Parts: sequence; structure tokens; C-alpha cells
Amino acid sequence: MLSLDPASATPLYRQLYFAIREAILAGRLHPGTRLPATRALARDHGLSRNTVVSAYEQLRAEGYLDGRVGAGSFVSAVLPEALLHARQPQAETPAGRDSRPALSARGARLAALRELARSPPRAFSPGVPELASFPFDDWARLLARRWRNPPRSFLVGGDPSGYRPLREALAVYLGAARAVSCDPDQILIVSGAQQAVDLAARALLDPGDSVWMEEPGFGGTRGALLAAGAKLVPVPVDDEGIDVQQGRRMAPGARMACVSPSHQYPLGVTMTLRRRLELLDWARAADAFVLEDDYDSEYRYAGRPLAAMQGLDDAGRILYIGSFSKVMFPGLRIGYMVVPPGLVEAFRAIRALVDSHPSSVAQAALGDFIAEGYLAAHIRRMRALYAERQAILLDTLQALPAGLLRVAPHDAGMHLVGLLPDDYDDTALSRRAAALGITVPALSAFYRGGTVKRGLLLGYAGVGEPEIRAGAARLARALAGS
Ligand SMILES: Cc1ncc(COP(=O)(O)O)c(C=O)c1O
Repeated sequence: MLSLDPASATPLYRQLYFAIREAILAGRLHPGTRLPATRALARDHGLSRNTVVSAYEQLRAEGYLDGRVGAGSFVSAVLPEALLHARQPQAETPAGRDSRPALSARGARLAALRELARSPPRAFSPGVPELASFPFDDWARLLARRWRNPPRSFLVGGDPSGYRPLREALAVYLGAARAVSCDPDQILIVSGAQQAVDLAARALLDPGDSVWMEEPGFGGTRGALLAAGAKLVPVPVDDEGIDVQQGRRMAPGARMACVSPSHQYPLGVTMTLRRRLELLDWARAADAFVLEDDYDSEYRYAGRPLAAMQGLDDAGRILYIGSFSKVMFPGLRIGYMVVPPGLVEAFRAIRALVDSHPSSVAQAALGDFIAEGYLAAHIRRMRALYAERQAILLDTLQALPAGLLRVAPHDAGMHLVGLLPDDYDDTALSRRAAALGITVPALSAFYRGGTVKRGLLLGYAGVGEPEIRAGAARLARALAGS
């Protein structure tokens, strides 16, 4: 009772194989049953004998059939019939048993997190760099050069800290551009800032440990910490950065504080020196660590980039995190962390267990990209372009209905925050705007605690002038629909 379809894209011998296999697994063909001779089966179903022989050989190779071609083929006698029947789906789920896959408590916690849900970028998705102007020809040439004569270490797996010449180039770059003081041995190349937070949480936190998290703050960081079972303490950010005194009151014995001092995400505040020193003082006394996320610090439009907090640390308390997602493109999935000397060996061991290291060839090409000046040149060009785009965005927003959205120029970053009145429903506005084809995340969605500011995030770095103007017109419609 075979129903084979000669018009199907699946070859006939595969169809025959599946049909017989299914009959065996379903218990319709019992162990020991003799199958028809290949010639007879072929004739009865109008198949070529080769088709039948191929199907039988496959079934024999996988243990469904015994016997040799020519001596008769039998359903394997060693298949335990009881187990074949046990495969049949139960007509009814046993009482009290959930039909969903049984996740562990940790798995269920992870699966429930929706902190990093990302939609495809469009005007005004925050955090997306300009992609079309990236020097892909140069990048492709550097990659090709590395692929032509790859050393054995590129092919069999390399150092879990990352490719050493890339770490050397980064140590020089970070020292010059960010006043980060480190030896290349303290650097770990990771698959983006997100993985750096995950590694830090694995290495330094036990479930239930308290962690200060900027309020409002970045969902990716929050998600990685929650996944590790941390207890998040939302410490408010004011115009000096995270409020350290409040943090001390809320959770003096926290194990870690996660901050973005150069350009707080999402508010854009730069942490003052006073707060930086207070935070370090607390970390020293509480034996806690500070995770410094320096995700987009290269983009400062007035004056020179500010020094990172890591350079102030003389007690081995700061883990510094950077990423190539903003200065190159997010799909590259390469970032880095600088860990205090005493933690290097532990982080190397954990890194090796997680996924060893990013592609060696990509790391080597990236080292060349930095050492040969391409990265610095690209950042210089993007800095000028983003400053121009911010000015265009501000200009077009001037034309919006008076007064509702308050947007001020900002001397850093890749997005602006437009503030709305405290009682304004920014979530509903964000939803209306999404329906009109623009992405403007609601500021209130970045909060987890008490007092919430209302507003919109407006990313401009990856948005060309025509899209900025068209997007602003849609935003005006969304605002008018309130
Ligand atoms: C605050 C913040 N940190 C870090 C990152 C970069 O993450 P990754 O390097 O994993 O792409 C982003 C990008 O979205 C971000 O907004």
C-alpha cells in the first residue's frame, strides 16, 4: 500500500525508504517480517529495481532490515517491539502533565526574558551606525590577505583571550583614545559587549547577588544579569550620572555596579568626576566590581573624547567593556573587555568553555584594520557625518507642533532623547509611530523602578537626510494623533 509521487522533488528511493521506515516504526511491519523481493516490488509499483535496491540498502545500513540483497530482506529482529509501540504519541496527555517542553527553572527564566527583542533597523532605531559608508573594499582586502596564507593556529583554534596582535593593537588604541591603562594580557576579545556582560556575570555573580543597574538602563545588560540570577537594584541616574549615595542606601553590599559613564544609555549623561570617584570608593570598600560599558564613546562632537573611568582604577575593581558594533557594524560580533590582572586567568578559563574565541581570521583582519589606520579614519568620517545628521534631525524637529517634544543638541552619541511631559503616554506614542513606519522607543520602557521620565529615543547615526526628513514628518503625524 505504497503511495509514491513521481512528481515530487524527493527522489523515489527516498520516498520508498521513508514509507517502509514509517511502517516499521509504527508497528505495521513486525520484526522478522519478510519484505517483498526487490524485483517483485519494483514490478508491482512500476519502479526501477535500482530504486528499490537503494531504499533497501539504506534501511539495512541504518539497522531497520536484516539480510543481504538476493537472500531476502527481513525487518530487523532485534528491534524491541515494546519500544516501537512506546513511540506512538499518547492519545491523551497524562493528567497533570504540561504538554510544553519541560525547561529547567533557569531555562524558563532565560526564555521569559524579552530584553533584547530587536526589529530590523529603520528611522530612528537607536544604536545603529551608518552601514553604507563602511569601507567594505578595504575590509574585504584585509580579510582576503589573511585568508590567503592562514597560519595553522587560525584553522585549529587559537588563544581564548583572542588573537594577540589584535590585543596589542587594541591596548595601544585604548591607551591613546580612551586613557585606558592595560597590558594586552588583560584584554579578552569577545563576541560583542553583550557577551562581555554575560562572562562577567558568570565569573563574579551568584544567584541572588545584588547588582546596581542604571535606572533607566540598557535592556541587554539587564537581561544578561537577570539570566545569571542577579537581583537588580535600579539606582537612579541624574545629570551627574548614577546616584552613588542612593545606591549605597538601596544596596550597600551589592557585588557589582553596571554603568555607562561616557555616555549613559539611554539618557546620554556623562558621569562627573566626582561621581566616578565616589563609585570607585564604594567599590573598593564594598569589595564590589564596576562594569564600565563604553559602547559608543568614540562619538563625541565637541572637544576630545573623555577619558574612560578604567584609567582611574588603582584597586583592580573595574571591568572595562568596548565593542566594534558602533564603530564598525553590529553583525561583526566582536567586542573586548579589559579585566583586572587578578581576574585574567579565571576569565580565560571561562571564555574557553563558552565559545573559545571569535573567528581568528576576522580578529587578525581587525588587528590590521586598527594598526593600518583604517579604523581611526572611519571613525573620523563617521564623527563628522553623525554631527551633521544630528543637526539635520534637530532642525527638522523644530518644525514639529510647538512645545510637546523637547529635544536639545547633544555633544555625544548616536541618538537624541526627546522629552515629553511627565503625564504623557510615550508608549502609546511609540506604538502609533511604529504603525506609521518609524521606530522611536519610549523612554519609560527603559525604567524598572519608581519615577519615570517620558520621552522618545531618536537614533540618527544610521539614517540619511531624506529618511530623517520623512521620518520627522511621520513623527509629527504620530504626535498629532495623540
Ligand atoms: C548600551 C549598550 N551597550 C552595548 C551595546 C553593544 O552591544 P554588542 O557589542 O553586543 O553589539 C549596545 C548596542 O546596542 C548598547 O546600546
